[in-house]
Formats: sequence, C-alpha cells, structure tokens
Amino acid sequence: MRPVLSLVLVALLLPGLPALAADPARGEARAAACAACHGRDGIGVSDEFPNLAGQKAAYIARQLRAFRDGTRRNATMEPMAKTLSDADIEDLAAWFASLPPCPEKQASPSRPAGTDEGMTTPKTAFTQPVFVSMKKDGTLWRFPDQARWQAGPTTLYDAVTPDGRIVATTIPSRHQVAILDAQTGKRLAVLDVGKDPKGVKMTPDGRFAWVSNQGSDNISVIDLEALKVVATIRTGKGPHNVRFTKDGGTAYVTLQGGEGLGVIDVAARRQVRVIPVPGITGPHNLDLSPDEGTAWVRDFVNNVAVVDLKQGRVRKVIKVGNGHGGIDVSPDGRRVATASIGSDFVTLIDPATFETREVRVGKGPHGIRFSVDGKWLYVTVTGENRVAVIDPERAAVAGRIPVDAFPFWIALSGNP
Ligand code: HEC
Repeated sequence: MRPVLSLVLVALLLPGLPALAADPARGEARAAACAACHGRDGIGVSDEFPNLAGQKAAYIARQLRAFRDGTRRNATMEPMAKTLSDADIEDLAAWFASLPPCPEKQASPSRPAGTDEGMTTPKTAFTQPVFVSMKKDGTLWRFPDQARWQAGPTTLYDAVTPDGRIVATTIPSRHQVAILDAQTGKRLAVLDVGKDPKGVKMTPDGRFAWVSNQGSDNISVIDLEALKVVATIRTGKGPHNVRFTKDGGTAYVTLQGGEGLGVIDVAARRQVRVIPVPGITGPHNLDLSPDEGTAWVRDFVNNVAVVDLKQGRVRKVIKVGNGHGGIDVSPDGRRVATASIGSDFVTLIDPATFETREVRVGKGPHGIRFSVDGKWLYVTVTGENRVAVIDPERAAVAGRIPVDAFPFWIALSGNP
C-alpha cells in the first residue's frame, strides 16, 4: 500500500503531469452538453454523430484537444471544444470510456411492407402522393401506393414541384442531386452540385430546384426544363434548407453555421441580408406562417425560434425534443409541428399561445409534413423504419407504415 501511495504523491508533485485525476462523475455532468448529438448513452443519435461510448479515453481526449486547437477541423465540434478546460476533457473522456459500447437498443430489423402491429393507416390519410426519401438505400417511396424508385446510392432531402410532376432528392455522399419523373419514377438527370447538398426546394412556379450546399456555402439553382445547374448563389455559412414566399420573390435560407436566416432576392439571385436568430444553435430547417410574417426556425439541437420577419427579431424560443429535425406549419396556419431525431416524440405547437404537446411516435422522428388540408401529419421515424401518420386534432398516432432503410424526409405538393 505505502509504496503505491508514495508513487501517486510523486506523480502529483512532478511538474508536467496532470495534477488531478480524471473524474467520470464530473464528466457525466459535463456530458449533458453532448447528449443532443452523441446521445445520453454515448451512442450518436443519428448517422452523422459518432458513438463515443466505450471509446478509449486517451483517443477521446486527443480528439477534443485537436478540435480545440483547430488541428482537427469540424464546424460543429471546434466551437464546442473551445469551451472545455483540460480537466473537462479528461473527465469527459473518462465518462464516455466507461459506458458500454454495445447498446441494447439496436436498430429494429426491417419488416415486410404492409404489416404492422394491428394498426391500419386510414385510407383517407393520403389524399395526394407523398414522397419519402430513404437515406440508407437511396430510394424514393411514393405513398400510398408504395412505388419505390432508385434515386442514388443514398438520399437525404426531397421536394416535389407544385404540379406534382417532378421530384428531386439530394445525394450528399456524391455531391449530387437526382431529378425524377414523379409519375413514372424515371430518372431524368443526376447533376453535380456544391459540397454536401442538404435541403432541396422547388420555386413556386415549378421551374427551378434550389439545392442548399452546406459544405460550400452556396445554393445551386437547377433549371428543371433544361436539367442543368444555371446559377450558384453565395450564402452565409452552412446553408441547410430554404423556404420561398408564395410569390416566389424571396427565399429564406437557414444558415446552420450560426449566423441566422439568410434573405435572398430570388430574381437577383443574391443574398441581400441576414436576420440574426439569437437563442438557438445552428438554424436547421424552417417554415413560414401563411401570412409570411413569421418564420418558424428549427435548430440543430433542441429549439424552435419564432422570428418576426418584419421587425427582424426573435419573438420566442421554444424548447422541443433533442437533436435536429424538420418543422412544418400546417397550410391553414392552425398548427406547427417539429420532429426531434434524438427523441421519440414530435412536438405540436399552438402558434397562437406557443403551448406545446408531445406525441410519441417511436425512435428518431425527423421528416415532418402536414397534408394540405391539415387533417394529417406524416412523420418519418428513422430509428424504427416507419412512416407514422398522426391525427393532429386528437394529438395521437393514427397509423404506422413499415418501410426500410432509414426514412428521412417527406415532400408533397401544396405544402413546401
Ligand atoms: C451539435 C452536435 C454535437 C454536439 C452537441 C457535440 N458533438 Fe461531438 N461531434 C459532432 C460531430 C458531427 C462529430 C463528427 C466530426 C467529424 O466528422 O470530424 C463529432 C465528433 C466528436 C468526437 C470525435 C469522435 C471520433 O470518433 O473521432 C468527439 C471525441 C466528440 N465529438 C466529443 C464531444 C463531446 C465531449 C461533446 C460535449 C462536450 C460533443 N462532442 C458535443 C457533433 C456534436
């Protein structure tokens, strides 16, 4: 006992050695700031976020120092690591290293389409085609008929023209976008765009698709007739998705790099200003109120900001579930809904009172869209390979449709 103790004392007194031992309990407390992305249990909440549970402590600590001093570059982790002291880093590394690397919660095996535990989706739930992108196998599925088309090796966001004739989906792994005939599924073109394309949206006149290239800070404008990129618009940092005004004159773009909402003059194809959105972390997706006076901005972590566009200020920040997700205002303006990939629920927000209600849908909800009549709410449940249909009036799940391969985003005509 004694020689060991004195060795520890010597170690503590030697200059250059850390004076304090790593404390996993302190690390656990500090790790609350990491849970939105790396999970409470150290298992990343989605494909973008590495697992940390069971990783070697020395490796974790080395990565955090590298993010902190900028020798490992990552727009999300660098600012995060700058807030950590040496002691924080050792504590966090010890905590994550202590967690079991092999979680019980494993992705559920994919089930054959058309079967589910006693829940039949009301036939009336799909009054028009609804397009769902499957991130893992690069297919687009059309509901309710469940036609499946290969769009790329992977897909992320999708969008359909107002006339329902063309559907597009981004392929971030190849820095491309695929354009398909929405009736036949024929692939009309696969086009190179900027780096790391995320959201895609159609102009209200149906002539152009705009692709937000998060990795190259610009938007590719695609002429859907000529099937080529006809312009590139420089934006602020990390453009993720856009929303056009009904007249097609203005586009708002979420700048996930943190600046806020970019305002783009569509005719001039130029970002003319930025509306800061303080109080949230990384503007991710957005929608507008029917009068277009309010933007509902979903961040990357767990907040929704209500932005008064005329005054250019944030009226309210609402806490929602963990992780990123989509947000949608019902076309009649009566409801707002957001999904949270790090949780198992969607949040319904009353836009008049800002009151919230949670509806449990299963693990990892992300894409979310109301039907045009506002009677149904479609949600992709990424962690359970389902598309859930919610009856918003009752705030209850009305049906769950099994799919495969990580259903991600939802698009339908009439609710961009
Ligand atoms: C907003 C999301 C987000 C939050 C919050 C976040 N991270 Fe990360 N983290 C990421 C992403 C994305 C990566 C992958 C970076 C890359 O690709 O280089 C990452 C990577 C890492 C890595 C490197 C893993 C590896 O295998 O090399 C470590 C370690 C890490 N994060 C620790 C933390 C810790 C500790 C916290 C909390 C203090 C934290 N992160 C908070 C998003 C996040």
